[in-house]
Amino acid sequence: MILCATPGEQYKAHQTEIDRAIQKVLQSGWYVLGEEVKQFEKEFAEYHGASFSAGVGSGTEALHLAIAALGIGPGDEVITVAHTAVATVSAIELTGAKAVLVDIEPDFFTIDPSKIQAAITSRTKAIVAVHVYGQAANLDEIFRIAKKNNIRVVEDCAQSVGTLYGNKKAGSLGDIGCFSFYPTKNLGAIGDGGAVVTHDEKLAKKVNLLRQYGWEERYISKIPGWNSRLDELQAAVLRVKLRYLDADNQKRIEIAKAYDEAFLGTSVSTPRVRVNTRHTYHLYVIQSERRDALMDHLKKQGIQPMIHYPMPVHLQPAYLGRIGVSGQLEVTEKAANSILSLPMYPELDFESVKKVIQSVREFA
Ligand SMILES: Cc1ncc(COP(=O)(O)O)c(C=O)c1O
Repeated sequence: MILCATPGEQYKAHQTEIDRAIQKVLQSGWYVLGEEVKQFEKEFAEYHGASFSAGVGSGTEALHLAIAALGIGPGDEVITVAHTAVATVSAIELTGAKAVLVDIEPDFFTIDPSKIQAAITSRTKAIVAVHVYGQAANLDEIFRIAKKNNIRVVEDCAQSVGTLYGNKKAGSLGDIGCFSFYPTKNLGAIGDGGAVVTHDEKLAKKVNLLRQYGWEERYISKIPGWNSRLDELQAAVLRVKLRYLDADNQKRIEIAKAYDEAFLGTSVSTPRVRVNTRHTYHLYVIQSERRDALMDHLKKQGIQPMIHYPMPVHLQPAYLGRIGVSGQLEVTEKAANSILSLPMYPELDFESVKKVIQSVREFA
């Protein structure tokens, strides 16, 4: 079966280095928030051209901590999209704030800036811009609106580590950038993990307090916090993989180029890339009016595509009828019925890419 992503292949590609890094941690006897995390935070901040980074428990927690560190909570509203992992919305709700969802741009699947102003009220405190699939949202417009309304911008980079907006890394442009290291991500750990990146020292300090019981020193809580720490094993593995991230993203871009060229002139539409950005193809998402039939066809050929995501957040049982929605989410709802993610990961060999191409072309 050709799968969409197989994190085990990444381990095999760097097995010697990863095994060595893990052994070092095991031998050290220090397993949570230690030297490996400190070094990873330094390297991850440098990679982003940012001053600070903090390793945390997951991507959801990175968003939760970031929004909480901005001082957002009960009575506040945060604008984002329904076309995202449900985690974006659950992180907002974890702070006690209300999520307000707006529609996406049809070409890029990211938040439609022209829909934001109408969603802003006196309670709006932030916009969470999701760089979905590895594609950067329209940050110029988002920053313009945020500045005019005096609200903050959080970048959800769970799917976009290494993505460029102009010549800057996604996550380094807004008030704070939030990353997930779930094993299938472009930078994947061997369990859960996440990080925030920011230029704002105060914000970084607040995240550092919140992620560990509000401790400024051991056992003394300065503010109420909780536990969302990155562990040493994850940090050690991430430090190895960070060295290969740009090369891995480049491989994804090459696979995407092969798909783009092969599907030109067929009935499936391929991802458009926003000008002056680098898409890092966490997911390669095509659209087809006969999506379900195409999916069945590919499965019969030994290819396992996926749908990211089959049901927009506002229609899911946990949110239906109670989540804030601004305007009609027509583009979001339409996309959910036509999108299909094809196999995409750096170790995907050329034979498999060829097979995916042949099978899609046969159908389309
Ligand atoms: C866009 C987006 N935001 C947030 C998250 C949450 O990350 P995690 O699974 O590490 O909590 C994910 C991961 O699935 C994601 O894709």
